[in-house]
Amino acid sequence: MVTKKVAVVTGGARGIGLAAVEIFLAKGYDVAVVDMSYTVANELAETYSSVLPIECDVSNPDDVSAMAAVIERQYGRVDALVNNAGIAALHPIEETGFDSWKKIMSVNLDGTFLVTQALTPLMKKVSGAIVNVASIAGLRASTLRTAYGTSKAAVIHLTKQQAMELGEHGIRANCVAPGPVETELLAKLVEAAPEMKASYLETIPLNRFGQEKEIAEVIAFLCSPEGGYVTGQTIAVDGGFQSAGVGLTALRSTNNP
Ligand SMILES: NC(=O)c1ccc[n+]([C@@H]2O[C@H](COP(=O)([O-])OP(=O)(O)OC[C@H]3O[C@@H](n4cnc5c(N)ncnc54)[C@H](O)[C@@H]3O)[C@@H](O)[C@H]2O)c1
Repeated sequence: MVTKKVAVVTGGARGIGLAAVEIFLAKGYDVAVVDMSYTVANELAETYSSVLPIECDVSNPDDVSAMAAVIERQYGRVDALVNNAGIAALHPIEETGFDSWKKIMSVNLDGTFLVTQALTPLMKKVSGAIVNVASIAGLRASTLRTAYGTSKAAVIHLTKQQAMELGEHGIRANCVAPGPVETELLAKLVEAAPEMKASYLETIPLNRFGQEKEIAEVIAFLCSPEGGYVTGQTIAVDGGFQSAGVGLTALRSTNNP
C-alpha cells in the first residue's frame, strides 16, 4: 500500500471533476482519473505525474471491476472517492424516451452505486471519504428534468444509505448539489433550451452561475480531516438557489429602475 493519500475522481477529465482533480493534486494526493474520455485523462497524466488515467464507463459493471483492480494494484487504498461522472438531457415527461431514462439512471445512479461498492474495501483500509455529486435538480423539481432530477434525488438518498452503513468503518459519505455551473454539460442544456439561463438567474440570489472550482472546493473540504464529523449530508453549492422563494425579479427591478 502506498503512503501518499489517493483520490479517485470519476468524470475527472473535464468540468467539475477536473477542478476537483486539480485541488487533490495541489494537496499532494495521487489521483486516479476515471473517465470514458480516456484521451483527455491521458493528456492530463502527461502534465501531472501523480495522475493515473483509467478508461471506464461507470455504468458498466465489468469496467468498474477492472478499474477497481487497477487501483488496488497501483495504490492499495482510497482516501477520497468523488462520484462525479454524470449526464443530463432535458425532455418533457411525455417525450422522455425509456432509453434516455435508463441511460441517465445508469450513469448517474448505477455508476455511483457500482463504483462505491467496488472501492469500499480500499476505503475501509484508510477510513476514506465519499462525495457524490448530485444536483440542485435532485432537491427542487424543475421542468424537463424528470429523468435527470429523479436520478439525482436517488443519489442524495443513496448517499444517506452509504453514510449509515459504512460509518462504522470510519467511512463518511456526503453529497454536493451544485446549481448551474458553466461546463460543457450545461452548455449543451442551454443550447437545447436557451431561455433556461435567464430563468435560472431569476431564482439565484447571487445572480450568477457557479464556477467549477467553487464546487470542487466544497468537495475537497468534505474529503478533508476538517470535515471529519460530517456525514450523510447534502450541501447545495448553488448561489442560494435552493433557499430562494419568489420576489427576486421584482427586487432587482426596484433596485435598478
Ligand atoms: N454543470 C452543471 O451545471 C451541473 C449542475 C449540477 C450538477 N452537475 C453534475 O456535476 C457532475 C459533473 O458535471 P459537469 O458539468 O462537469 O459535466 P461535463 O459533461 O463537463 O463532464 C462530465 C465528465 O464525465 C465523463 N463521463 C460521462 N459519462 C461517463 C461514464 N458513463 N463513465 C465515466 N465517465 C463519464 C465525461 O467524459 C466528462 O469528462 C455531473 O454529475 C453533473 O450531473 C453539473
